[in-house]
Formats: sequence, structure tokens, C-alpha cells
Amino acid sequence: MTEIIDGKALAQKMQAQLAEKVARMQEKYNLVPGLAVILVGDNPASQVYVHNKERAAKKAGFKSETVRLSDAISEEELIDVIESYNQDPSIHGILVQLPLPAHINDKKIILAIDPHKDVDGFHPMNTGHLWSGRSVMVPCTPAGIMEMLSAYQVDLEGKHAVIIGRSNIVGKPMAQLLLEKNATVTLTHSRTKHLSEVARCADVLIVAIGQGHFVTEDFVKEGAVVIDVGMNRDENGKLIGDVNFDQVAKKASLITPVPGGVGPMTITMLLEQTYQAALRSVTR
Ligand code: GUN
Repeated sequence: MTEIIDGKALAQKMQAQLAEKVARMQEKYNLVPGLAVILVGDNPASQVYVHNKERAAKKAGFKSETVRLSDAISEEELIDVIESYNQDPSIHGILVQLPLPAHINDKKIILAIDPHKDVDGFHPMNTGHLWSGRSVMVPCTPAGIMEMLSAYQVDLEGKHAVIIGRSNIVGKPMAQLLLEKNATVTLTHSRTKHLSEVARCADVLIVAIGQGHFVTEDFVKEGAVVIDVGMNRDENGKLIGDVNFDQVAKKASLITPVPGGVGPMTITMLLEQTYQAALRSVTR
């Protein structure tokens, strides 16, 4: 029997719990967690993501500021905007939506964010913490996947996890989080030889390659857990994952849909980490 992971329901439950924690924080410390989201340019997908983040933050009782900047902005001007939020005590989390326009060096931008406010967990100080096993700020998508696996009681101890995609946002941090749970991890990518064969060894298969319906049934072992991070549009503009859901669902024991799987959990973890950063600002 295949079970479909309901990321939307889990995210709603966690966000409702978070709203209660935010209310208690306000009572106890007279503090409201503040999130600043910076969007450069008019990438349609990024606009949707940013809108969803803003809406969820407000609903959970956060202070939410979204800055929409022209893609003609210079690197220095963008760094000035970040610096003003670094100095703003009412803001505990800063997120610069990626991708950035080609003339802006994203590594330089990430370095400009105060690591204590880096709720994306992209700053090298936070990636260093993650890889040394004392994570503070963790990239939100892998963090959300770990929450989902835990909520569905997926035992990772000694299991073989295969990740397809080696991005800094998903694949690489995902590998470390799975290692922390004693999984054996294979990190694959577009140039991996015999990829479908490697993927077929997976007890847990995480797919973040950015190509619609890339993973077909021959990538999947009977009974595997399949997590689809993909967000692609098909030729009719319909949102589809990296996994061919109809084929793979027949083999998987547990699978995420797109939409309604990983996406809502990413936003939840962003809010959770902003809340935790706010809490640290008064308890540290
Ligand atoms: N673009 C796609 N995913 C993400 C994310 O998790 N954080 C940011 N900042 N940009 C993204």
C-alpha cells in the first residue's frame, strides 16, 4: 500500500503550533519575530514563493517585511539593504530569494547577511556548523524533509538514502542531515553514471534535480520512500515534480506529491528558524 505524505496538512499543523508559540513569546518577552524577505527582479516563480512566505509569516503573527528591488540594482546597493536589516533589532531573519540576477554574485550577498539572522542557513558559518554536527540554522527545504520523515516515522538508521541533485540549497545539506540520523548516504547528480541503477538501491530517495518527471519507475525500488523536491512547469503550465508521480507511486511505500508535499514544509521551517533566532536574541 502506498501512502501519500500530506505536507500541506503537516505544515498547517506546525504553523498553528508556531502561532501559539509566537503569542506566548509576545506575552513573555514583549517580542515579535521579524522576517525580512528580499526579492530582486521579477522571476515569476520567485514572486510566488516570496508571496507565500509573506502570507504564512503574517498568519503566524510575525512581523513580515518584503522588499522588492529592481534587477538593475547593484551589488553594493543590495548589500546596503541587507546591512540595514542586520542592524535592525526588530528583524531576526533575513532571506534573499535566489536565484539572483547574473550580475550579482550570490556568494558575496550571502556573506553580507549576519549569520545569526541567516534563516536560510546558507552563510558559510552556518554550513560549517551543520557539517561539524552542531547545526543552528539549517537550509529550510532539507530541514522540512527531515521533519516530514520524522512525522511519518521513517526510520533512517542504517538505511541507504540516495539524493539526486547536489545543490547548496538542498542536496548537500540533505546529505549531512541524513548522515546525522545514521543513514548511509549517496549523493548523486546529473553526471553520475548509471544513475537509475544507483537510485534503485535507495530505501529513501530524495530528488532535487530540477527536471520535470526525471525520475521514472525504473529509478525506484519496491517499497522505497520517495521525496520530490521538484517544482517545474509542464508544457501546459501545470506544476509538476521531478518524479513521475503516477508511475512511481505504484512502487513507493511513501511518496510526496507536488504540489502539497515538500513546498509547504520549506516555509514552515523558515518561520520556525526565524522564531528560534528571535528567541536566541533574548535568551543568549
Ligand atoms: N530559491 C529556491 N529555494 C530557495 C530557498 O530555500 N531560499 C532562498 N533564499 N531562495 C531559494
